[in-house]
Amino acid sequence: MEKLDFITQHRSIRKYKPDPIAGETLNDILNAGIRASSSGNMQSYSIIVSRKQSLRKRLFYALREQKMTLQAPVYLTFCADFNRMRKWLALNNAPDNFDDFLGFMVAAIDAVLVSQNAALAAEAKGLGVCYIGSTLAHCEEVAQILELPQTVMPVVGFTLGYPAENPPLRDRLPLDGLVHHETYQDYTPQRVAQIYAKRDKKGWERYMALPQLRQKAQEAGVENLAQLYTTVKYTKPFHQELSAEILNFLKKQGFLKAEG
Ligand SMILES: Cc1cc2nc3c(=O)[nH]c(=O)nc-3n(C[C@H](O)[C@H](O)[C@H](O)COP(=O)(O)O)c2cc1C
Repeated sequence: MEKLDFITQHRSIRKYKPDPIAGETLNDILNAGIRASSSGNMQSYSIIVSRKQSLRKRLFYALREQKMTLQAPVYLTFCADFNRMRKWLALNNAPDNFDDFLGFMVAAIDAVLVSQNAALAAEAKGLGVCYIGSTLAHCEEVAQILELPQTVMPVVGFTLGYPAENPPLRDRLPLDGLVHHETYQDYTPQRVAQIYAKRDKKGWERYMALPQLRQKAQEAGVENLAQLYTTVKYTKPFHQELSAEILNFLKKQGFLKAEG
């Protein structure tokens, strides 16, 4: 087996066996997670391990009832966290400069790097993961359930467990459409059409095979994948509403103080 196969063979897993995850296995995964690079090595993140059925049931509703969040034995939430560091600063009579946008970005980047390290470690051990966007989109509900204090913000989360499915690899846009050498080469319409050609066809076929989405697309008069993305899946009101919620909650959590 090529050493990188566990990365290049990644698939999000949405069906899980009920098998529990041994404490040692989980610790190995989390230890691999925290080996990620971290800004100033401040490790401005926290990882919440949710195993209890009662708690995961509450998360299931907050995460908009995606079945795998109940089926997988573990849900991991990766939070941007300056709470611990700020307490350490206070203990040592050091000023606190992290309750602002830069503080949030630094902590959020740290949290995401840890999450992806942990995801890869899990996959290397034969487990599967599926990131769940509602962790951020519905951050306030998630934070209430997990009892997150000030300057702790849920950023990403994923289900973790032993796969009960073996889905095909999802496509990626071609590498040369994503990489720029030395400086950014802006895209001509022809180049964009070329880069998206395969996805336009395969993605459309894939979504049209899902009866619910096909019906929504028909009702909305949607004719192609791009239209499906912004007319059905990620609409303007959806974005505006969630952006406002996230920004409000960031303020409430004590980030963005300097920004007013
Ligand atoms: C931040 C983030 C949020 C995601 N949220 C969801 C989600 O809520 N539900 C879901 O089924 N998949 C979710 N995914 C998984 C993506 O749909 C998936 O990674 C993408 O379609 C590519 O498929 P693959 O991971 O199997 O290669 C999310 C992925 C990321 C990175």
